[in-house]
Amino acid sequence: MFRLAQGFLAFLAILGCLTTAAIPGYPFRYVSTLPWATRVDNLVSQLTLEEMQLQMARGGRGILVSPAPPIPRLGVGPYSWNTECLHGVAYNGAATSFPMAIGLAATFSPELLYHVAPATALELRAKYDYMRHGVYGDGRGLSCFSPVINIMRDPRWGRNPETYGEDPNLSGILATHFVHGL
Ligand SMILES: *[C@@H]1O[C@H](CO)[C@@H](O)[C@H](O)[C@H]1NC(C)=O
Repeated sequence: MFRLAQGFLAFLAILGCLTTAAIPGYPFRYVSTLPWATRVDNLVSQLTLEEMQLQMARGGRGILVSPAPPIPRLGVGPYSWNTECLHGVAYNGAATSFPMAIGLAATFSPELLYHVAPATALELRAKYDYMRHGVYGDGRGLSCFSPVINIMRDPRWGRNPETYGEDPNLSGILATHFVHGL
């Protein structure tokens, strides 16, 4: 569910990736004069069902599509939604690798998370600025699949190390600090 929500947020983020200035007839492009919700409604109202589906990051056979394809008729560029920064920037060349989330949680230090996340964000932004000119793909966007706020409930789950553990209070506090830091 959280990932779906992220996908939708990533879709909304294409509003921030418009490639040219405002065009008459496309109210969603009026960045400074229209409220965000109005712009979203306008953009969504102009998409075909197929375009919506592709922006939600799944191809016709359920295959992941990253970047989400451009919509040239609306002046919308591609969007690299598949970026991971759970414990450092992933999939995008050399970067600082912090301990996995479960290890960070074992410090019981929200302040530490608050410093790890901005260090990651700085590298992410630097890589984005360096490569954004026509280069799209995994690890090259600015919306991260992080942090994982699922509670660790079963030791058999293969992704437990990506969580902050089994305590909802600790997980919530650490995740909050991570998000604020990011
Ligand atoms: C959650 O953690 C904070 C910080 O350690 C603590 O002050 C608070 O009492 C905790 N809340 C619960 C419900 O355990």
